[in-house]
Amino acid sequence: DIVSNYCVEVRELGYRLQELISQSLGLEKDYIKNVLGEQGQHMAVNYYPPCPEPELTYGLPGHTDPNALTILLQDLQVAGLQVLKDGKWLAVNPQPDAFVINIGDQLQALSNGRYKSVWHRAVVNADKERMSVASFLCPFDRALISPAKPLTEDGCEAVYRDFTYAEYYSKFWSRNLDQEHCLELFKN
Ligand code: OGA
Ligand code: NI
Repeated sequence: DIVSNYCVEVRELGYRLQELISQSLGLEKDYIKNVLGEQGQHMAVNYYPPCPEPELTYGLPGHTDPNALTILLQDLQVAGLQVLKDGKWLAVNPQPDAFVINIGDQLQALSNGRYKSVWHRAVVNADKERMSVASFLCPFDRALISPAKPLTEDGCEAVYRDFTYAEYYSKFWSRNLDQEHCLELFKN
């Protein structure tokens, strides 16, 4: 019951964020939700055991999330998430009563690069285990991902070609997670 309530609430939060992101781009409130259609929702409960030599490995190597929007619940006791900013990895320490929201590759493409899908990774820890709960909102398979029209006017070229989410997703998993940004393969 707890997990299913959590999934419902997190989905509502994701929809609200998608509405606000649409509006921030000067689009109709429902624009992003309409493009993404009946969204899939995946949950990963990540478990990172303690590692005696944490500098030799990662819990998760650097990657961007291939979906639209990710809502991450962090372990309050143990930090581990890092994001890449200006070429440097910065720790995102857990905050009470806060989620981490990751923009995924699909929102970068839909916004014609205005929103950035963040590079992030998880490091491990010598003596403490860590858990995190990631909820991924994903476009439906046949969703056509293409830059919103108003964002490609006034001399702004479309940065990426059109693709379906199914095409993107299979390309994403045919590479290594920490290779070049998968979106690069869809550049115009
Ligand atoms: C993920 C992810 C980070 C974390 O599951 O995609 O980036 O802190 N998790 O566990
Ligand atoms: Ni991730």
